[in-house]
Amino acid sequence: MFRYTCLNPIAQVGLNGFDDTYEKTEALADADAVLVRSAKMHEMELPEKLCAIARAGAGVNNIPLEKCADQGIVVFNTPGANANGVKELVFAGMLLAARDIIGGANWVQSQDGNADVAAATEKEKKKFAGSELQGKKLGIIGLGAIGVKVANTAIHLGMDVYGYDPYISVDAAWNLSREIHHINDVDEIYRQCDYITIHVPLLDSTKKMINADAIAKMKDHVVILNFARDLLVDEEAVVDAIEAGKVHRYVSDFPNPTIVGKKGVIVTPHLGASTVESEDNCAVMAVKELRNFLENGTIKNSVNYPACDPGVCESISRIAICHRNVKGMIRRFTDILSDTNIHNMSNASKGDYAYTLLDLDSRVPEEMLSKIEEIEEVLRVRVVK
Ligand SMILES: NC(=O)c1ccc[n+]([C@@H]2O[C@H](COP(=O)([O-])OP(=O)(O)OC[C@H]3O[C@@H](n4cnc5c(N)ncnc54)[C@H](O)[C@@H]3O)[C@@H](O)[C@H]2O)c1
Repeated sequence: MFRYTCLNPIAQVGLNGFDDTYEKTEALADADAVLVRSAKMHEMELPEKLCAIARAGAGVNNIPLEKCADQGIVVFNTPGANANGVKELVFAGMLLAARDIIGGANWVQSQDGNADVAAATEKEKKKFAGSELQGKKLGIIGLGAIGVKVANTAIHLGMDVYGYDPYISVDAAWNLSREIHHINDVDEIYRQCDYITIHVPLLDSTKKMINADAIAKMKDHVVILNFARDLLVDEEAVVDAIEAGKVHRYVSDFPNPTIVGKKGVIVTPHLGASTVESEDNCAVMAVKELRNFLENGTIKNSVNYPACDPGVCESISRIAICHRNVKGMIRRFTDILSDTNIHNMSNASKGDYAYTLLDLDSRVPEEMLSKIEEIEEVLRVRVVK
């Protein structure tokens, strides 16, 4: 029987993924696994029993990743689970930029009490007219979980889609429509596209990626969309470019003093992943990750330990070892287990930490497990089966 605790409310559809071999507990001290959204865990004392934390969402800055890794606690997140929610908002952003829907709707609201509103509408509506997305060129920088969805949907809207991602994953490439132009030089996106949307992670290398130089290369009246992170864009340069008539609209999901209230800027209050479905998807994915780890030792989508997926154990026993990424560890494990046949072995590392799964043809005696635990660089030993 495994016990889990929820540090925040987690969507029931996700919790339904636990079967009767799992029990919910209110006490962190009793838990093998934790589900969390925004609860701050940095100051929390993490019990010895705890071996996994799943964050239902992408960001993990509320979790002390290194402290967890040092205690052999594997931390998971749920990348891509909210991609559809973000994708839909990107298209809302494009439509808001293409037509003055906000201005038009605000004008209608201001007509409260006007008995001639219908006639006034026919006179005023030309002020709010715009253009269509069909036939326009859309440039997508970053073809990950969100970028690929945006690209494929834009094809269905009749847009001409240009995608740039020098590090595209094999999965993403498989999922991408063949109709998308694969661009090797981001400048081509800047030169060609009417709409440019950015979907890359915030890294030193991507910070202010869209800057004054990039904007200078863009077409006049370009629309820039940013549903990734505000620091990816030099927003002062964007505000200047709107003033100069170069950029038509800047649509962002990240309010800050540089852009709020500025001409030509449309800002939503970080709504990308704020949908019922995104929260459900994150919870479902987080529970699957926990179960796969607790029951099989599989690590998928961890932020502090490497991915490791040898499948379901077909042998008599499987042991999982979280340890430091230093040389000679495998030899030390196999020396201790020299009387046992190792049927299958998986080992992977990520930064300073490593993970080894050993499938054995017999049960491991307690004293052997203790010997492995005694190795200074070993952080946790768990009998999975
Ligand atoms: N608005 C929101 O609420 C919201 C919600 C979820 C995610 N996000 C943001 O969206 C971003 C993208 O999310 P995702 O789930 O698609 O991430 P992802 O990791 O699946 O995809 C990111 C892609 O960017 C690519 N990339 C990295 N550096 C690049 C570069 N220099 N040029 C071009 N491509 C580059 C990577 O190869 C990867 O394919 C996240 O980093 C996150 O900040 C925002």
